[in-house]
Amino acid sequence: MLSLVVLISGGGSNLRSLLEAAEDAEYPARVVAIGADRDADGLEHAEAFGIPTFVVPFTSYPDRESWADELLASVRVWSPDLVVLSGFMRLLPERFVQALAPNLINTHPAYLPEFPGAHGVSDAIAAGVTQTGASVIIVDNGVDSGPIIAQERVAVLPGDTEHSLHDRIKIVERQLLVQSVLDIANGTVNLQEPQQA
Ligand code: GRF
Repeated sequence: MLSLVVLISGGGSNLRSLLEAAEDAEYPARVVAIGADRDADGLEHAEAFGIPTFVVPFTSYPDRESWADELLASVRVWSPDLVVLSGFMRLLPERFVQALAPNLINTHPAYLPEFPGAHGVSDAIAAGVTQTGASVIIVDNGVDSGPIIAQERVAVLPGDTEHSLHDRIKIVERQLLVQSVLDIANGTVNLQEPQQA
């Protein structure tokens, strides 16, 4: 059974999809703790599913490094097999990434390497593309630049707003995340050698 710590900043719908998947006794992963960098709305899912939480507020620390050191310490309390960044909206310093790599994955609302960064959905709309997508990647020291575990295309429809497009992307993103964790747990995806999976 793969143990997961999930880190969130927002509403946590991706987190919730993992929690729901893990209700199936045959799903080979369990969320053991949920962390956030703020008092995120998505922490309510933790309460609903009876999962412990921790909050390490970014704004309570003098710099990114000291904040991330505390976050890492809070993650390590749970000795997870895998850490999932799921709508976690803070850049993590190199030493946090190195401490967990390659057992650190992230979801992204675009078809990487297209539209990396915090504005992947609005950037796709601004670029006028007819297709974007969703991706799950292994986190490396770049911004959304790590090896891709899974991705799928999503059409941009005439009249789409950032909100309407993001809603449709997130439906795909949630499925990709649940499938990626399943694939990691059963060895179909090898995080040490993702290209050969
Ligand atoms: C996801 O699209 C994630 O990739 C992006 O923000 C969204 C978070 O959604 N960075 P939620 O908090 O899981 O609902």
